[in-house]
Amino acid sequence: MVIDLRSDTVTQPTPEMRHAMTTAPLGDDVFGDDPTVNRLEEVAAARLGKEASVFLPSGTMGNLVGVAVHARSGEEIIADAESHVFLYEAAGSAAVAGVQIRPVTTQAGVMSPEQVEAAVRPRDDPHVPLTAALFLENTHNVHGGVVWPLDALRAASAAARGQGLRVHLDGARIFNASVALGVAVADVAAQADTVTFCLSKGLGCPAGSLFCGSREAVDQGRRWRKRLGGAMRQTGVLAAAGLIALDTMVDRLAEDHANARTLAEGLDELPGLSCDLTRVQTNLVYFDVAKGSAAKFQDGCRRRGLLGEATDKHRVRFVTHHGITSADIQSALAICEEVVSA
Ligand SMILES: Cc1ncc(COP(=O)(O)O)c(C=O)c1O
Repeated sequence: MVIDLRSDTVTQPTPEMRHAMTTAPLGDDVFGDDPTVNRLEEVAAARLGKEASVFLPSGTMGNLVGVAVHARSGEEIIADAESHVFLYEAAGSAAVAGVQIRPVTTQAGVMSPEQVEAAVRPRDDPHVPLTAALFLENTHNVHGGVVWPLDALRAASAAARGQGLRVHLDGARIFNASVALGVAVADVAAQADTVTFCLSKGLGCPAGSLFCGSREAVDQGRRWRKRLGGAMRQTGVLAAAGLIALDTMVDRLAEDHANARTLAEGLDELPGLSCDLTRVQTNLVYFDVAKGSAAKFQDGCRRRGLLGEATDKHRVRFVTHHGITSADIQSALAICEEVVSA
């Protein structure tokens, strides 16, 4: 038995999802007549408190659609220097939308209103690009799965809106944020004009993300989806799993958070490993390997049936998810202890 903590994207669809996927009514979504996709888009929009949403293949496409909807070629968006849109989306904003990202270094993924204001370009200087939008990420992946306090999110968003910017939220794991905060997901989403969230991570679906916002933004997003080649046909097969996920997989994220906490505390006690426990607020656990390389540690774990990701020279990431029990966490800790003492 392998304990796979590489990512929450390794989750398998539940039996209920598999059943729904085989029985869902289908149509051609490019004609707009797949009833299951239409239903998912309605349910997702209502849950996030937005007017509309559009079903997309991935979170990466959701962020790219957000860039393209909010900014024109030659304009700039502001994002955290460690954000997914800046680091890990193959420069799609530049390559496809012609939009530059202005990276802002933050303490732990939370950008202050002053930082937002300082990053906005003066509108009367022809040397600089116009700033179109602020991109936020919640939970923030590379900063450790940290959750924006609602007040901080509100303040950053208000600062951006005060400067005439639009706000997009990369909410790949927005449901982890809402569960951790104990607030409705719509309260988190309300701080942004558009939100992308993923079904394919902690919610356990095989694929799919939703881009949510005003009817106008979503209509533009639908055109971008077509342009990017992401409009598909009987995608109700995937949307069916999404409907089950929104019904059954959200509240249980608290279990993943508790498992991550136990794991992080256990790792931090092992000699040679250290974890900033203040950042372990959801299902991601980043920790440092003091002696030797993270790749070597990862390899030692792999040979003993535990999978993780070395994210840089000395840092490893473990992610808890639906396929991981509290017994797996104890086994994972026992393996890590063996690896550090080997
Ligand atoms: C914060 C964040 N945003 C966006 C994405 C992109 O999602 P996808 O893998 O569906 O393209 C990820 C994926 O890991 C992510 O962690």
